[in-house]
Amino acid sequence: MSGHHEHVTRHGELAGEEPLSHFIHLIKNRRSIRKYKGKEIPWGLILQILEAGRYAPSAGNVQNWKFIVVRNPGVRESIAKCCHSQEWMQDAPVHIVVVGEPKAAGRFYGERGETLYTAQGCAAAIENMMLAAASLGLGTCWVSAFDDFEISKILDFPEDVVCQGVVTLGYSDEHPLAPARKDLHTVVFVNSWGDKGYGDKAKGYKSANIKEAVSQIRGSIENIAKKIKGRNS
Ligand SMILES: Cc1cc2nc3c(=O)[nH]c(=O)nc-3n(C[C@H](O)[C@H](O)[C@H](O)COP(=O)(O)O)c2cc1C
Repeated sequence: MSGHHEHVTRHGELAGEEPLSHFIHLIKNRRSIRKYKGKEIPWGLILQILEAGRYAPSAGNVQNWKFIVVRNPGVRESIAKCCHSQEWMQDAPVHIVVVGEPKAAGRFYGERGETLYTAQGCAAAIENMMLAAASLGLGTCWVSAFDDFEISKILDFPEDVVCQGVVTLGYSDEHPLAPARKDLHTVVFVNSWGDKGYGDKAKGYKSANIKEAVSQIRGSIENIAKKIKGRNS
């Protein structure tokens, strides 16, 4: 059933059985990874991922971000601690800490620039990097549950910058199933807030998601079966 997914046709109607673009497939199959292999990541791959971050959109193209690559195990341990003791983070061989520079956006856009635009630009960079990592066969997890003050001390921030997120990066050692998403027709309205009969149009999307979930479960069962077979032979 691979390649059978929903799609919007040229006429704007939804069809259930159009091939899914590779990129949308990548988006849908990216998972938050919280278990990593010890294997180091070559700098060449890390640089490609950072480059994807650099090309993210930002308000007025102000690019008011810094990406701190943390490979040092002691520093990673401290970061994991200050992320409310999410200890699994330590095993990711790399953390990319995304830091916003609110003043640079505030100069042009006032308070809205310092808060909303800074957070949104950094979020765009984070998602770009996570998708780039997925395309290179690497797992990531976006972590925003951290102590702002602690992380600024660990990484020696100047006064006027703010951590916007930590991206853990490494070779995945787990295959989590996709956490359920709300059905498309429950999150999309047409023209204004409220149900405008979009539900009927989006029905195909729901069935395609179920098909995908079933195929994922089937895949993981097959993997387990293979492992058991290998152990017994
Ligand atoms: C702003 C933000 C903060 C997040 N913070 C954490 C976090 O602190 N710890 C964690 O394990 N996951 C965190 N996540 C990951 C989400 O739990 C995850 O994206 C969500 O459950 C959906 O799973 P998926 O990414 O596999 O599709 C965060 C995600 C976002 C967007």
